[in-house]
Amino acid sequence: MDKPSSLEILRSHHRKVLADLADVDACLASPPLAPGTADNIRAALRQLVWEMDGHMRVEEHVLFPALIACAPSSRETVAILLDEHEDLRRILHSLLRGLSEPAVDSSGSSSVLWSDFHTLLREHIRKEEGAVFLLAERMLRPQDWRDVEEGIRRFHPGAAGTESEESK
Ligand SMILES: [Fe+2]
Ligand SMILES: [Fe+2]
Repeated sequence: MDKPSSLEILRSHHRKVLADLADVDACLASPPLAPGTADNIRAALRQLVWEMDGHMRVEEHVLFPALIACAPSSRETVAILLDEHEDLRRILHSLLRGLSEPAVDSSGSSSVLWSDFHTLLREHIRKEEGAVFLLAERMLRPQDWRDVEEGIRRFHPGAAGTESEESK
């Protein structure tokens, strides 16, 4: 896999996550929520947790360390992105906890959390694709991209964009 292919897989993860966001939005579109809708939201959120966790682990364990090694000036930006990963995980797990009750929380707290999550995730992806991925494309070495490829296989097998790799 060459470096644009590795980056394209990471970008495809972003597109999948944004599509998952749209699925949850559709479920939340008409409160109050029926019990069946709550199940759909839980399923969509669990899918989002899975999609995001593997992707973020590739970034945390492989892409970001390689970027810092090649471009030490990126350290501060990466630190911000890592903080955002923690915030995203925290909000997602709070949302899932809120939805674990027999009746979905319709008090509004979940919708506020969801709005925070939505805003943070979109901004996070914008930063990564608008700056960090472009810098990585310029700075990382061939071995770094092989490591990213291996990281994708290791941390996020079966995710969007990796199906063809799985069948190799
Ligand atoms: Fe990220
Ligand atoms: Fe990302």
